[in-house]
Order: sequence, then C-alpha cells, then structure tokens
Amino acid sequence: MNSKPLPKSVLWQDDKLYLLDQTKLPHVEEIFCCEQIESVHEAICALRVRGAPAIGIAAAYGLVVGLTEHVSLSALRERVDYLVGARPTAVNLAWAVERVYRYAAAWAEKHDDQIPVALLCDEAKLIHSEDAASCRNIGLHGLPLITANSNWLTHCNAGALAVSELGTALAPFYTAADSGVQFHVYVDETRPLLQGARLTSFELGRAGILNTLICDNAAAHVMSLGKVDGVIVGADRIAANGDVANKIGTLGLAILCGYYDIPFYVAAPTSTIDLDTTDGKQILIEERSAHEVTTFGAAQVASLDTKVFNPAFDVTPSHLVKGIITEQGMTTAPFEQNLGLLFDVNSSTTH
Ligand code: MRU
Repeated sequence: MNSKPLPKSVLWQDDKLYLLDQTKLPHVEEIFCCEQIESVHEAICALRVRGAPAIGIAAAYGLVVGLTEHVSLSALRERVDYLVGARPTAVNLAWAVERVYRYAAAWAEKHDDQIPVALLCDEAKLIHSEDAASCRNIGLHGLPLITANSNWLTHCNAGALAVSELGTALAPFYTAADSGVQFHVYVDETRPLLQGARLTSFELGRAGILNTLICDNAAAHVMSLGKVDGVIVGADRIAANGDVANKIGTLGLAILCGYYDIPFYVAAPTSTIDLDTTDGKQILIEERSAHEVTTFGAAQVASLDTKVFNPAFDVTPSHLVKGIITEQGMTTAPFEQNLGLLFDVNSSTTH
C-alpha cells in the first residue's frame, strides 16, 4: 500500500484557487493555481478538474477568483453564465454558481449593488464544506451494502478526485475499508478518457483498497462469471423521476445488471438531483471532441479523418436503479415521489 496522501482536487488557500490537474494523473501530480476566471473555465472544459461535485465547487470559487473587494450583480451574472457554459450535463456546476448568485442577489436587495467578494467567497467555502459532509454521509449510508468478501464494480471516477473528499460511489468503499471490511472492486477503464484506469484505480490503490482494472467490454463477462455482487456509480444529473445521467457506458452496465440480477446503485449528493428536469430525455448530453476517440492516451489510433460520435454521458432509466444513496440515506422507487421528499423548502440543496 502506498500511504502518500491523495492531493485535494480543489483547494482554496490564501484567496487563491488551486486545482489538481487530473489530465496528468496518475503519473504526474501537478497542482496549478487559477488566478483568473478564464483559467477555471479552461480547467473545467479540459477536465483538469472533473466530476460533478468538484466542478461545482471549483466554479463557485471561480466566480470570485481574481476579484478584489466588490463585484456588481450584473458583473456576477456574466461570470455565472460564462462558467455554466463550460460543461452542460453535470447539474452541480449550475447549482453551485446559481446558489452563490442567489446569495449575492439577496444581499444586494438588502444593502447595495456592490457585493463584498469576501461574502461570496464564504458561500463558496460553505458549498465546499457541505460537499465534504455529504460525502461522509453517503459513505455511512452505503456502508451496509459492502459486506465481507463482496465484489463490486464501478465506472468512471466518482471518488475523492471528483469531489471534496472520499467521493460518492467510492465513499462506501472508503468507509468500509476504514471499518476493516474485506472486499474487492472491479474498475471499468472508462474509455475514451480512462477515468477508471487513470483515476479510480489510482485512488483506490493509494488507499490500499483491493481493485482490479478491466476493459469496459469485459464487464459482461465478469458478471456472467458471478464475480460481481453489486455496481455503484456516481451521477452528473438525476432527473425528478430518478433517471440518471452519468459517464458514457453506465447505461450498458445497468442493463447488464438487470440481465444478471445484480443490484445497480447510484451514489450522489442531493445537489446532483434536478427536480426541474422531469426525466432523462430532457438532460443535455455533452458531446466532446473526436480526438478523444481517435486517440488512446498520446497515440493516434484511428485515422485523423474518421467520423466520430463522442457523447460524454448516457442516461440510465430509473427502473434499472435499485437505489440512490444520498447524504440523507438510501432512496428507492417510486423515485418521482421519494426524491422530492429529500428537499425541504428551506434547504440549501433546493434548486
Ligand atoms: O467527464 P467526467 O470525468 O467529469 O465524468 C464524471 C462522471 O461521470 C462521474 O461519475 C460523476 O460526475 C460523479 S462524480 C462524484
């Protein structure tokens, strides 16, 4: 076991935003400082910071980075819209910056149109610390699933690198490992950008959690051999009816779970639940560059003129989901009814 601590994906220190460049992992651990909103925008687009909660936290800080003293509400609105445009699918991005904006608008209504930057920064810090608490609670609520000698499968990276700490899908694994439970995780490599191979194997390995990397197309075979007791994935947006947008390939896993009668769980904070989106058909799926598919790492694999379709996410219909683990507990069907119960009108998680 390598005991070197995992660097934080997002860190705010001395009024500066530091991001771990996840495009360079696992070989290079490089932290870079964002001094202007443009570099935060670039980092989100290029997946230097990625994972729904982490991009929300980074964007909340991104609203204030480079600002001194005060900002007007109209200038803040421009900054919000600019950052929201960086990636469309993960609702946490819009959720976080709109929350800071709402806070600013409420302050401006009572006081003055020139809003102190320090107040907005405090709201961003609150989003950050609430996410950490959510992850810890997701870990506790998911813990009973991780029974002794069980075998799990996960996709993409919904671990500490994708959030403030612990992760969402990986939080029950960290919590179980801390409690001394023995278990094992299969990690899908997650083409095209290999978040499983580069990030999930790396962070589980660093925590001493037993894991085995498989090609995405090996998942059906591994399940057919009876080697998977359950699947846990994260989410980028959960619609009001429980449909789940997550990394491309998640839908295939959920269908396989249905076929092999394997429970399929989703772990996410309530900030990922979007009650304004009634079902998965309404979720905008980000399409990324052909280059990600025609290459493998640094190597050009397909010819440069190859026609490519590269959706970054897919939508799993709620009937394939056994349960959604949030910081408030396990929610099961009927999701239309039960997801709504997680939101109370005074809660900061309300959209
Ligand atoms: O494109 P990415 O790497 O940002 O996609 C990330 C995922 O799909 C995660 O599963 C999701 O954001 C949840 S992270 C806790």
